[in-house]
Amino acid sequence: MNHYSLADAMTDKGNFTVPKLSESNMGFGVLGVFLGLLLEVSTHGPHAVPRTSWKHQDVDLMEFSEPGIFNYSTLLLSEERDALYVGAREAIFQLSKKNVTVKNNKVQWSVAETPMMMCTLKGKSKERDCLNYIRVLQDLDDKRLYVCGTHAFQPQCDYLYLSNFSLAGQAEDGRGKCSFDPSQSFTTIMVDGELYSGTAYNFLGSEPIISRYSPSQSLLRTEYSTSWLNEPSFVFADVIREDRHRADGEDDKIYYFFTEVSVEYEFFGKLLIPRVARVCKGDLGGQRTLQKKWTSFLKAKLVCSMPELNFVFNVVHDVFILKAADQRETVIYGVFTSQWGNVGLSAVCAYNMVTVEEVFSKGKYMQKATVEQSHTKWVRYNGITPSPRPGACINNLNRQQNISSSLHLPDKTLQFVKDHPLLEDPVLPIGNGPRLITKDVNYTQIVVERVQALDRNIYDIIFTGTDKGVLHKSVVYEGEVHIVEEIQLLKTPEPIKNLLLSSQARSLYAGSDSGVVQSPTAFCDKYLSCAECILARDPYCAWNPHTSACVNIFDTPSQVHRSLIQSLNGDADKCPSVSGLSLQDYQHVMVKPGSSAELPCLVHSNLAQVMWKSNGSALTEASRFHLIGETGLLIYSVAPEDQGHYECWSVEWAPAVGKNFSRLLAGYFLTLDLPPRPPYQAGHKTTTLSSGLGKQDPSSTHSSEGNGKTDRPPLTLGSARPSSTATVHFTSPPQTDSSLTPPPSSTIRLQPKQHLHPSSNIPRPETRDPSAEYLQHNNSTALLFLFLLFFLLFLAALAYNCYMQYLPAPCLRLRAALLGSHKTPQPEYRACEAGLIEPPVTEKLDLTEQPTQNGSQVTQNQLRALRDTGYETEPECGNGQIPSQSFGDDSPSQEKPFDVDCDSQPIEFADADDPYC
Ligand SMILES: *[C@@H]1O[C@H](CO)[C@@H](O)[C@H](O)[C@H]1NC(C)=O
Ligand SMILES: *[C@@H]1O[C@H](CO)[C@@H](O)[C@H](O)[C@H]1NC(C)=O
Ligand SMILES: *[C@@H]1O[C@H](CO)[C@@H](O)[C@H](O)[C@H]1NC(C)=O
Ligand SMILES: *[C@@H]1O[C@H](CO)[C@@H](O)[C@H](O)[C@H]1NC(C)=O
Ligand SMILES: *[C@@H]1O[C@H](CO)[C@@H](O)[C@H](O)[C@H]1NC(C)=O
Repeated sequence: MNHYSLADAMTDKGNFTVPKLSESNMGFGVLGVFLGLLLEVSTHGPHAVPRTSWKHQDVDLMEFSEPGIFNYSTLLLSEERDALYVGAREAIFQLSKKNVTVKNNKVQWSVAETPMMMCTLKGKSKERDCLNYIRVLQDLDDKRLYVCGTHAFQPQCDYLYLSNFSLAGQAEDGRGKCSFDPSQSFTTIMVDGELYSGTAYNFLGSEPIISRYSPSQSLLRTEYSTSWLNEPSFVFADVIREDRHRADGEDDKIYYFFTEVSVEYEFFGKLLIPRVARVCKGDLGGQRTLQKKWTSFLKAKLVCSMPELNFVFNVVHDVFILKAADQRETVIYGVFTSQWGNVGLSAVCAYNMVTVEEVFSKGKYMQKATVEQSHTKWVRYNGITPSPRPGACINNLNRQQNISSSLHLPDKTLQFVKDHPLLEDPVLPIGNGPRLITKDVNYTQIVVERVQALDRNIYDIIFTGTDKGVLHKSVVYEGEVHIVEEIQLLKTPEPIKNLLLSSQARSLYAGSDSGVVQSPTAFCDKYLSCAECILARDPYCAWNPHTSACVNIFDTPSQVHRSLIQSLNGDADKCPSVSGLSLQDYQHVMVKPGSSAELPCLVHSNLAQVMWKSNGSALTEASRFHLIGETGLLIYSVAPEDQGHYECWSVEWAPAVGKNFSRLLAGYFLTLDLPPRPPYQAGHKTTTLSSGLGKQDPSSTHSSEGNGKTDRPPLTLGSARPSSTATVHFTSPPQTDSSLTPPPSSTIRLQPKQHLHPSSNIPRPETRDPSAEYLQHNNSTALLFLFLLFFLLFLAALAYNCYMQYLPAPCLRLRAALLGSHKTPQPEYRACEAGLIEPPVTEKLDLTEQPTQNGSQVTQNQLRALRDTGYETEPECGNGQIPSQSFGDDSPSQEKPFDVDCDSQPIEFADADDPYC
């Protein structure tokens, strides 16, 4: 007898007609392959990077929270009443939809003494569990909302009168409508005055139920059986209305989405499976069989996998149904992760409503079969299915057969659906794979908006919220996904618990444990140039050449639309050509020889690479005293030949156009600040050098000259100040060793002694080729160093001979010390350096050639380290931390990515039975 194996679960690509035979112990072998795959997928799999990252303080967000009130996780938007209703812990708020900082109403709903005591007696925590968490907020009619709360593990529901924003006080039993446990997964939807819920029916949370509560009928519910629901974690429910004029007279349907433990796959642990289930709105239960139970409950597997890598996303966290007037255009979007959470991948899969309908109306059923006495397996049912089709809604054909409601369904059909709620055919995603795969995030919420761009094409804009309070905005363009931006919505990195979208208010509303945040759906005005505006590829944004502003097309009157520039493939050539910076627009930067200069240049795009040009040719870091960092170019120990023009270019690859777009971001004219001096004398340098070789001059140990922190506003195109003051950090010469103080070129006169004095405490982060230096020096210096070298060589030879036989390590160290002796830093700096710049310089330079924003943590730290030491004038380490551009880097959890937090995983709640109960 055939049965399903994990291998089938992993490789289901729609080819489900011939289930493979497999051994029960095969799971282990498959797991090995699977774990191998996890590694491969997380390192080599396709995943997108957000183009722009906005920090919380970068963007204008409106926030609401009240002191002492937490868990703002239930949201209800009312477009007609212009309101956002928020259900929190023991409180319900009415906020303005246009501005959530405006609180229009509030009502408190606390737990009385007695239920509180009962709750604590059952072993629940008084501060956490035995409170009233508002979990249901639904529109009932024009005057009332229907509200339910966990009410100290005794769920209760009530009516909220909108006229005076007060509760009716006629508490109804909330069992089956609301969860007992505030942390248990739960979903609900109100349809025509009837409340549909997916929750648990008991205190323990062990009896899952999909139910309908209506004031006029008794509760309709699922059968309590693992083949109906097996430790489900409910995420979403919504209604799909059928056209009233549909010829077959089909009923409206309510779809539920959840993750449950699979019954059909062999696995040594609990294998989770994402499901879609549906019930018919007109269902009344059976007459004898399935009395007060759904006669239309069917469920199917949702597939979200990368077939080419055999990788499965098997946990669904949230679903959004993008409804269209024509049901053929209705699309279901879901966010998924893998059960093995530490892979760090999230995916968005999309399903056509038509595909789902097809599976429910035509799919094959699965059936439980007993093999070898007690062992049961699920196999495809190949027998004759009774008529009317089990689980189908009542339609005109049934009505003609005198079956006007589920009460008239024959027992044969009812018995069949009771035993066969699971369909074999899976629901496959559009394009057979995810629309979007993102690395190192856990998506928790999703909403989608369908917009028409200026090219008249329709785009689905996907907004996904993460467990760290970040929002991603993505658009699918010709099958390729592009993450337009990421926004740190919440101040603290906590999960986004609820996400709503109002097309009318052009806003997103995010609920979390600490508050509610409102964000616009687009940040067009943050793009300051046409190229930025176009390269963002945001369907909401277009460039207005007349006002020279990036505008939201939905804020712009449509008669203006024709003059707007929008190119969703990111073709920045569509922009009016900007006249390049003229020489007068370059910022003049004057530095003293030997000090370092920083030329600021901020690139906002995570997809762009920075290119620096000096005198018209691209700079490479390897050969020079340059460091190209996140915030600009750093030139160490500016020498005369470093003078000239410097330009900062952003090179951004636009994959949809297939070309690079280069933009000039900033231009500088670097000159040496040479003080007035007597005419050139050839012998001058010698004096400087010989004095430099002496011991440190205590009077100038801490050269603070020119170290004042100057403001360095980033230079933007078109706003250049011709004769602006130099906006540069002046630091004392970063040398510790006199041998390197003079610049290699002997034609340029040196600064007065104090500027070049070797007593500076700045260690040199990198050094030029020493041999080149020696060639430049005059004879006395060369002789001295030759002597030193011979002396050291002698020492080395001695040490070598001594230790060669059985102690090679000290010899090596001595050799290393010998070779590196001329650039040994000052003792007080060693500790700092040890922590900051351990890897060899060459390696650092290699790494920094990658796009910095995408670079690893290590790379950024190294960059920081290099930059810091370049700037330090005091022997301290650890200050001058440059904030990283990626949100993830700020979060503490980044440090231990594999630390699984079970409590935050909603999937765990299904089996979180309290042992005290
Ligand atoms: C409610 O919020 C508090 C404070 O943020 C949090 O610790 C707790 O886990 C939340 N409880 C639920 C059920 O979400
Ligand atoms: C349906 O019921 C009507 C009257 O109750 C009867 O005349 C008719 O034959 C029935 N039709 C079927 C298909 O059973
Ligand atoms: C740029 O050109 C000037 C004059 O042609 C030259 O002195 C300078 O060394 C050059 N600078 C660089 C960094 O190439
Ligand atoms: C685009 O620019 C990047 C970075 O400068 C470069 O590596 C790549 O080769 C360029 N591609 C093309 C097609 O010019
Ligand atoms: C995602 O969630 C899992 C499970 O809770 C956790 O182990 C992982 O660290 C999270 N990943 C990120 C990037 O937050």
